[in-house]
Amino acid sequence: MIGNFNYFTPTKLFFGKGVIKDLPGVVGQYGKNVLLTYGGGSIKKMGLYDEVYKLLEGFNIIELSGIEPNPKYDPSVLTGAKLCKENAVDVILAVGGGSVLDCSKAISACAKYDGDGWDLISGKVKTRAALPVIDVITLAATGSEYDAGCVISNTAINDKRGYMDDHLYPVASFLDPEYTFSVSKWQTACGTADAINHVLEQFFATPASLFNDGIMIAALRSLMTNVKIALKDPADYAARSELMYVCSWGCNGILSNGAGYSGWPMHSIEHALSAYFDITHGAGLAIITPRWMREILSEKTVERFVTLGVSLFGFDRSLSDSEIADKAIDAFYKFFEEIGIPMSLGELGVKEDKIGEMVDHILENDSTDEPWMYAPIGREALVRILKASM
Ligand code: NZQ
Ligand code: ZN
Repeated sequence: MIGNFNYFTPTKLFFGKGVIKDLPGVVGQYGKNVLLTYGGGSIKKMGLYDEVYKLLEGFNIIELSGIEPNPKYDPSVLTGAKLCKENAVDVILAVGGGSVLDCSKAISACAKYDGDGWDLISGKVKTRAALPVIDVITLAATGSEYDAGCVISNTAINDKRGYMDDHLYPVASFLDPEYTFSVSKWQTACGTADAINHVLEQFFATPASLFNDGIMIAALRSLMTNVKIALKDPADYAARSELMYVCSWGCNGILSNGAGYSGWPMHSIEHALSAYFDITHGAGLAIITPRWMREILSEKTVERFVTLGVSLFGFDRSLSDSEIADKAIDAFYKFFEEIGIPMSLGELGVKEDKIGEMVDHILENDSTDEPWMYAPIGREALVRILKASM
């Protein structure tokens, strides 16, 4: 069944080789004063920084560089908002991965707000306005280029917050798969694991429908097949183009229109891990995924595992439901191992003695145990998942 929904994604996508040629025309629609945001230098190495400057000749460019993976409220968001206010910035151009874009989205709203921007990010105050954001995305992962969310870390309070608001949709996103050729094996694997998890967070929800199951299984198949090709040959355009396009569908709801919101529990857990230990988001998710699956496997949920087992992995339908579910969970574990993700949190530097504190933090800030959720998980379950992931 397709339940009730509303759906809105106003971002204009420019997809494919060489689409950046349209950048000046699009930026020019919003003004001349541009805040160019980027990370630690990958865009300089790949020549994209110079290309952007060449294309934007005649624009007044102000720069914010050094945006961190797991972007920080202080200094990055605060500095960016200040630059926007001081320079009457008309439009923000984010060039880089999801962290650069997320930071730019938060800046766009904070630049239009006079109080402490954390009020907006934490949801204490409703967002009323934001500067337009355009992006050239260089990493296939988050889907930030096609959604209304951003995730910002506030190290002062060990918090990593998802911040969603319709004002945060980029007005235009440029997706050229060639810009992802230089992404390392590690980030390629982690980015794909993130996108796989975005699909799974929506797959484990009700009501299910043949149509939504079909597109989600197609998305998983494409991600799981193409990441292996891209890991072998980073410049395989066909593989990189599928990864880039499928990742962009991750978080804007299009994969699960008409299904209820699951609560995205694996993301709630991972955000606490990143807040406490600054780990790579996709790696944390990959490690948690099979452990979360084991925890929520029940009579109620087994049908979801059977659909994955049969339609995605091709398991024999004549096996029992619980055998198929077991095999499906093992298959995800093995897949993440095969693409090079260490499957224990300890290997990423997470300390077991922080589990209790992290669980408190999850329950306080995100809550994973609401009765409306697809598979509510309370304190004991969270502790079990995290312990099993160590
Ligand atoms: O900083 P630079 O030098 O640019 O290097 C980056 C960074 O070190 C590098 N990189 C990016 N593009 C590259 C490249 N290196 C070589 N060639 C390229 N073409 O990759 C490293 C990681 O970049 P980052 O932007 O952090 O990765 P990703 O895109 O995976 O973003 C992760 C962040 O997004 C959040 C995560 O929590 C995390 O903070 N998320 C955002 C979401 C959203 N807005 O919808 C949803 C997700 O669930 C996620 O939570
Ligand atoms: Zn994610």
